[in-house]
Amino acid sequence: MAEKKLETKALHSGYKGEPQFGARAVPIYETSSFLFGTADEAARRFSEHDINKIYTRIGNPTVAVLEERLADIDGGLAAVCYASGMAAISTLMLTLLKKDDHIVVSNTLYGGTVSLFSDFLPRFGIKIDYVDIDMLEEVEKSINENTKLLYAESIGNPKLNVADLEALSEITKKHNIPFILDNTVTPGIFRPFEYGVDIAVYSLTKYISGHGVTIGGAVVDSGTMNWRKKFARLTEDMPPFHSAKYGKLSLIDQLKITLYQTGACMSPLTAFLILQGMETLPLRMKRIGENTLKIAEFLKNHKNVSWVNYPGLKDSPYYNLARKYFDQYGPSGLLTFGVKGGLKAGKKLINNVKLCSLLANIGDAKTLIIHPASTTHFLISSQERQEAGVTDDMIRLSVGIENADDIIEDLDNALNSV
Ligand SMILES: Cc1ncc(COP(=O)(O)O)c(C=O)c1O
Repeated sequence: MAEKKLETKALHSGYKGEPQFGARAVPIYETSSFLFGTADEAARRFSEHDINKIYTRIGNPTVAVLEERLADIDGGLAAVCYASGMAAISTLMLTLLKKDDHIVVSNTLYGGTVSLFSDFLPRFGIKIDYVDIDMLEEVEKSINENTKLLYAESIGNPKLNVADLEALSEITKKHNIPFILDNTVTPGIFRPFEYGVDIAVYSLTKYISGHGVTIGGAVVDSGTMNWRKKFARLTEDMPPFHSAKYGKLSLIDQLKITLYQTGACMSPLTAFLILQGMETLPLRMKRIGENTLKIAEFLKNHKNVSWVNYPGLKDSPYYNLARKYFDQYGPSGLLTFGVKGGLKAGKKLINNVKLCSLLANIGDAKTLIIHPASTTHFLISSQERQEAGVTDDMIRLSVGIENADDIIEDLDNALNSV
């Protein structure tokens, strides 16, 4: 049978119904632990690593459906879900890295991720080099014998740069290190493993869940890395799982072990909410792509706007790469622009919009607006802000699925009042 398309997978992957009552929707197994029945059954579940029927911190059937659906959508081997996107990223780092390891990281990342890399990981002896991922030579030069991974975002948030992801993956393959991509902004519309990415990470809080009702994260493994070469620890047998499955599932098993040890698991109710949102992911991403282009074009021609940054605009330096990687749906729904009059005018604009919601999130069905320099990127240094492309006059929109004419009218009224 041919591989199902995204629209079908978003509705069906990972769940065929349950045998007891035939529930069509995925049941919420809101339980901390699972009855074993007999002592032998208890021993069997532990020894056979039957992970979704022991204790919800390490596995749960509702969460498992979401994990399978995410892996299937990306064409990956398997996934592990977490309490948040940051929990997914930090747990992956804690699983892969140890003291004196070195990592190469894009200098245009979400502020929370920058904070993890700049502040948290160095306290554990991990060394970080930030690079401009547009400069392939610079990326390759910064890899040394202790380098363990390259980390980037599919569309940098909020610089909205699109790197040549395929070329980056060729560099990582040459040096036998995993290419980890945060695909939060382009879920479903970009299939990372088809372009050589080894591991995808997600904040499910954003487009995948899509309605701003919960927080969640995931790591999806392509299953293509040979861990034996540079990550010997990943292929060692570790208590308490003593899994016989090490090999292709090395990383997934080790992620489960780190989850067992550090505990940032996803709740079953959260998995259910994300599964509901995810059913309409392809429809939303299509509409969001169309709306964002219309709004970008409107803003470009507005007298009170000094610049517009959207990789779907023909004059964007990233237009060709955006066409290469995100052609079918457009490069997602984030756009940034500068208001004439700088910070003061920007604040006035934000105070005057009526339809756009002022809040610190992206990827909602509703259009969101924020001033990154004073909010999401406030905690990082001004140099890091500059490198991440966060200027003082920058306004970020996360375009939703409202009628584009209504969003444009709201922005027009607010812009005319600055
Ligand atoms: C690209 C990106 N990755 C990761 C995160 C972190 O996700 P969470 O808020 O679910 O922890 C965010 C949050 O804004 C993000 O924008």
